[in-house]
Amino acid sequence: MRFHEIGGPEVLRLDDLDPGEPGPGEARIRVDAIGVNRAEALFRSDRYIEPVKRLPARLGTEAAGVVEAVGSGVTGVREGQAVSVVPAFSQNEYGVYAERAIVPAAALLPRPEGVDAVSGAAVWMPYLTAYGAMVEVGGVRAGDTVVLNAASSSVGLAAIHTAVRAGATPVAVTRTRAKSARLLEEGAAEVIVSDEEDVAERVLALTGGRGAEQVLDAVAGPGVTELGRAVAPGGTLVLWGAQSGQPTPYPGFDLGMPALNIRTYTVLEITRDRERLRRAAAFVSSGLRTGAFRPVVDRLFPLQEIVEAHRHLESNTQVGKIVVTVAR
Ligand SMILES: NC(=O)c1ccc[n+]([C@@H]2O[C@H](COP(=O)([O-])OP(=O)(O)OC[C@H]3O[C@@H](n4cnc5c(N)ncnc54)[C@H](OP(=O)(O)O)[C@@H]3O)[C@@H](O)[C@H]2O)c1
Repeated sequence: MRFHEIGGPEVLRLDDLDPGEPGPGEARIRVDAIGVNRAEALFRSDRYIEPVKRLPARLGTEAAGVVEAVGSGVTGVREGQAVSVVPAFSQNEYGVYAERAIVPAAALLPRPEGVDAVSGAAVWMPYLTAYGAMVEVGGVRAGDTVVLNAASSSVGLAAIHTAVRAGATPVAVTRTRAKSARLLEEGAAEVIVSDEEDVAERVLALTGGRGAEQVLDAVAGPGVTELGRAVAPGGTLVLWGAQSGQPTPYPGFDLGMPALNIRTYTVLEITRDRERLRRAAAFVSSGLRTGAFRPVVDRLFPLQEIVEAHRHLESNTQVGKIVVTVAR
């Protein structure tokens, strides 16, 4: 699947290409399921943090499948092994929206026992992203309050589960009341509907005036000033997405120069560091074993309907991950 021009979902096209043989440090996988992420929609429309360097362009960074062949120097994965591809590479270099794909072997994790292809394509991006921001970077502690917007996204739900596992209190923010009940079912201690309520006021009320130790913002834009007001002294506002598409002001001065840490973050900080990825995979696997972590799959689409899958992503009606399956 490639796009030959920048644009909406309709520019995605199925092209008949030979994937070729894996080079040094690479593996070729038979793709069984693909995790659809906001990053691909942004890349397709050239609004991603990394510009499209050449057309036609491949896309996709998260999948599950089986290793078909490995290149020279590859250790740790073998032919016939069930694996997941985690987002550890540039979409300008590799793309997993395909029946077969070549990827860096360092981006492969063995699929845990009992995890099928659909779950294997839905689990890693959300939980690795949440673990990295909250545990590795944010140092979340029991008793902390963690506020997150776009809470119904796959990453948002994983962040709720991660906060609960860490003994912290997750407060979910959504724009509309439609998703409130579902967010409470998924473990949110409170839901704030941002179209109806003042987010900072609610967070301050819920924390006895203290504020939240971590605020995870997937939206950015002008709303950061209000979110900054919801952060406890010494706490951190993590900017991990920019769905608003608007310029993001630096809120520190408008807020009177509080003890506010602001940090951008991507999961690449985890997936491109062998030791951090090892710790993260152990954390996620242990959550899967106990049932604390359960990837939420919103809807399945066949690969031929990738355009519809992207339209559904951009409808913002989903709760959890959209997964594309590859039939043979
Ligand atoms: N930093 C990283 O490494 C990393 C990794 C993965 C994902 N992310 C980010 O995490 C976010 C979720 O990604 P995803 O692929 O899991 O889910 P997604 O399906 O793209 O998330 C969709 C949800 O985001 C909310 N949303 C969309 N546009 C919005 C806007 N303009 N203002 C406020 N809320 C908006 C909506 O929830 P409501 O309508 O309920 O508010 C929507 O249902 C994205 O921002 C993505 O870029 C970051």
